[in-house]
Amino acid sequence: MSDTNERPGQLPIGVFDSGLGGLTGVHAIREALPNEDILYLGDTARVPYGTRSPQTVMRYARGCASALVRRGIKMLVVACNTVSAVAIETLQSELAVPVLGVIAPGARAACRSTRSNKIGVIGTTGMIASGAYAREVARVNSTAEVFGVAAPLFVPLVEEGWLEGEVPRLATHRYLTQLANHRIDTLVLGCTHYPMLRVVIEHVAHDVLGPDARVIDSAEATAHELRETIGTAVPRAEEIRQGRLHLMVTDLPQAFAGAAARFLGHAVDDVEVIDL
Ligand code: DGL
Repeated sequence: MSDTNERPGQLPIGVFDSGLGGLTGVHAIREALPNEDILYLGDTARVPYGTRSPQTVMRYARGCASALVRRGIKMLVVACNTVSAVAIETLQSELAVPVLGVIAPGARAACRSTRSNKIGVIGTTGMIASGAYAREVARVNSTAEVFGVAAPLFVPLVEEGWLEGEVPRLATHRYLTQLANHRIDTLVLGCTHYPMLRVVIEHVAHDVLGPDARVIDSAEATAHELRETIGTAVPRAEEIRQGRLHLMVTDLPQAFAGAAARFLGHAVDDVEVIDL
């Protein structure tokens, strides 16, 4: 990775998540900004975060963020809704680089999408308990209602690669049925692992919530906002070469490489293990 001070635009964008989920964000950022280098950290030694207390998530988040900042990054994308829900303001005030979370962009995209002013959000237990989407939606649209449902089985399904078939379908059905009476027209995937289950979730959402229900991916919404804003507070990479991706984890690099290939759509051969 390039880390020259003379060309700060060439520093990578740092991205982290508890594990694999943030790779949906990486995929979206690479589509939106193909020239940018990305330094990714998946905290595979401590995944999942979504079942832990806000204090623990905050401690883990500080560890991941400092490891990336020490390596040299021009900005940090917190590609984890659970961390974004409890730690984004702290990270923004403590770190010397700009920090972007996934919840505010996801909430703004949901507000643009909804016609009924009723938005559903699925996410980890910790993220749903935080009420973070309702707060962010209220900043944009004070009349919109947000209904959250925790979907804790989705992260282990994704980490195990169970992305289709009866088990994810039945789990999705059970979770979305809890939203069926609220007449929502927009469903936010409020966890960066969930886009890997998007085909199943969309299918069930159309059955349970109605054929016009729209699904919003918070990681994709974040990448779109990044494409619009990069070049102002954060310098752009030069447009002369393809951006590089460097992957780091805190445990099990081989298992991560196999699963990462599914997320990214290409083989992954080099994953570095770091200690936080
Ligand atoms: N991918 C993460 C999120 O967006 C969390 C998964 C987990 O560690 O529980 O919330």
